[in-house]
Amino acid sequence: MADIAIIGGTGLNSLKGLTITHREMVNTPYGQPSSPLVFGQICGCSVVFLARHGSGHTIPPHQVNYRANLWALHESGVKKVIAVAAVGGIREDMYPGRIAFPDQIIDYTWSRQSTFFESHQDVRHIDFTYPYCDELRTRLIDGARLAGLDPVTDGTYAATQGPRLETAAEIRRLAKDDCAVVGMTGMPETALARELDLCYACCAVVANRAAGIDGAIITMDEIEKNLKTGMDNVRALLEHALPCL
Ligand code: HPA
Repeated sequence: MADIAIIGGTGLNSLKGLTITHREMVNTPYGQPSSPLVFGQICGCSVVFLARHGSGHTIPPHQVNYRANLWALHESGVKKVIAVAAVGGIREDMYPGRIAFPDQIIDYTWSRQSTFFESHQDVRHIDFTYPYCDELRTRLIDGARLAGLDPVTDGTYAATQGPRLETAAEIRRLAKDDCAVVGMTGMPETALARELDLCYACCAVVANRAAGIDGAIITMDEIEKNLKTGMDNVRALLEHALPCL
């Protein structure tokens, strides 16, 4: 059984350095997850890896089957989930290439399947005051520092619907809501993890300045370039964090 799950986002469709033991394409009551579960060893840790957007990055954020993904990981027996996600930087200190560990989230998405508790027999209201697992966040932040990075240790993640990027006015509104970063996959993933009692933390990689922040148009070239550096940093921090988890 794996000790920990890693959900890879845009720019992290596979985990370099993972010695793969086996792959499993599982089915769940909610359908199939985005990709096979890839089990293996990395840095002395048993890990299960799932590519959120599919192995070939073909599933857009609003069509990810978040329930199947989280259910499959839970069924695999893990208790901890590290979710890697590309984001746009809203707050001044969220510059491209930087790694951040948000501590709050606001859901601006709509019409996604966002709960496991949808039957009349199972009305439950989870506590979600602090949406991320603080112990896991702390370990990841320590790992990032050991890797020589300068991680951002707080901030609110704005989860938007996508797949388009935001307008400058939308980002101004998110800034007024005190959001530090914006991404398209944080919800319902974070809430579903809590519904399953999983210890879940987000490792956000800033791919670009959010729309209108520096007046420039956002290009895919820029996003890809920054994600490449950012994901190399994620691998480095995982090397330091994983042995402690
Ligand atoms: N907005 C939303 N999601 C994102 C962005 C952004 O600017 N960059 C990377 N993912």
